[in-house]
Amino acid sequence: MDIRRTKIADAIKMTDFGKQVNIKGWVRTKRGNKNVSFVALNDGSTINNIQIVIDADKISESVLKDITTGACISVVGTLTESLGKGQTVEVQAESIEIYGLADPNTYPLQKKGHSMEFLREIAHLRPRTNTFGAVFRIRHNMAIAIHKFFHDRGFFYFHTPIITASDCEGAGQMFQVTTMNLYDLKKDENGSIKYDSDFFGKQASLTVSGQLEGELAATALGAIYTFGPTFRAENSNTPRHLAEFWMIEPEVAFNDINDNMDLAEEFIKYCVQWALDNCADDIKFLNDMIDKSLIERLKSVLEGSFVRLPYTDGIKILEDAVAKGHKFEFPVYWGCDLASEHERFLVEEHFKRPVILTDYPKEIKAFYMKQNEDGKTVRAMDVLFPAIGEIIGGSEREADYDKLSKRIEELNIPMKDMWWYLDTRRFGSCPHSGFGLGFERLLLFVTGMSNIRDVIPFPRTPKSADF
Ligand code: 4AD
Ligand code: MG
Repeated sequence: MDIRRTKIADAIKMTDFGKQVNIKGWVRTKRGNKNVSFVALNDGSTINNIQIVIDADKISESVLKDITTGACISVVGTLTESLGKGQTVEVQAESIEIYGLADPNTYPLQKKGHSMEFLREIAHLRPRTNTFGAVFRIRHNMAIAIHKFFHDRGFFYFHTPIITASDCEGAGQMFQVTTMNLYDLKKDENGSIKYDSDFFGKQASLTVSGQLEGELAATALGAIYTFGPTFRAENSNTPRHLAEFWMIEPEVAFNDINDNMDLAEEFIKYCVQWALDNCADDIKFLNDMIDKSLIERLKSVLEGSFVRLPYTDGIKILEDAVAKGHKFEFPVYWGCDLASEHERFLVEEHFKRPVILTDYPKEIKAFYMKQNEDGKTVRAMDVLFPAIGEIIGGSEREADYDKLSKRIEELNIPMKDMWWYLDTRRFGSCPHSGFGLGFERLLLFVTGMSNIRDVIPFPRTPKSADF
């Protein structure tokens, strides 16, 4: 019998009972007695399983015994209205083909309630769990939302290079790219490695940000965004850092820091609203199983505006809290780089709302940020979120050639490598601004997962690059 396969996402919405359908998927559970079995089948198209009802006299015993958790099967049967709770349709099986067995003695996803740590060790199979199915469907939906947001507003998706010779953030956290024989490195008389024989003829690395090239595009196309993988060799083994993560970086000509904050706030609210509107089943599942306050937290950021506050005022609030006895692990003082505990205090305890912190000390921010008149601070903005801390980092850019090149010199950034970037300030310079949203930080927020390793299919972290 040749009937076209129906995805479970579509089948569970159908009402033409009595119709023949073909459902294919992986067995989640099987229960029943010697007369009838009930199989919960999932094909990844939705968090919902479809129930397959198997009468023992219709399907041979040898096929039935192979239907175990994890096995892949194709079922032809009749779509019927379900009287069971939690489902509206089920399928009365007429024939079943076993595509792939899953030996119950060795299939790792047997019992419910595996720990996240265990599931990370079997990251090749974890997409078959309810939780990771939900997370990865949401991940896809957020990517679509992001493209739609920018496309609808006339931004162009611009592809910046993955391999680069410049360190945008200047933090020295780059992974080097080379084809040189590491056992036989050629060095000059000072002991420095000679790169002229390397693939690119100079030292090259994986990018930490597409911003510098994004600025070139924004000062030509007006408004662009990048959306690609970024790499940072920062040795921070935290629940919020990855060595390989995805970043979205809009860059807009003629935007000042206030326009930049408006864009960031509108953008992130759009993404959260999109998730609520388009991923309702998956979010409800995560709310029930992972984080009971997820939906409430998602809705809370949509209400009202984000707080906008200069760094200096933020430090005062934190110092006041310390004076009143609040204990932080890391010290608070003007000039300190805020730790996640500080950011979360401002957001979760003090304001109880997302906060955009601006005008940071120039020493703790990158060279390209617009310098304020005070000579001490720059027009930076970090968007701080509940449960996450920093979710967006950005700034208005220094548009003045002299100020920018002076800062590059002060920081000992090799000027000869930056000539192309400085050319934007030499020819038709303009005020412009942009920011970077960490895609996985957004996903942490939207899914309620607590570790960033669990919102990317195959996480790369210090000492770990499996799969
Ligand atoms: O604040 P960052 O370092 O800013 C930049 O890279 C700028 N060039 C962006 C711009 O203005 N175009 O990084 C931006 C965001 C952070 O706010 C955070 O969400 C995320 O990227 N991020 C990370 N996410 C996961 N793992 C890491 N190691 C991350 N480092 C930054
Ligand atoms: Mg940052």
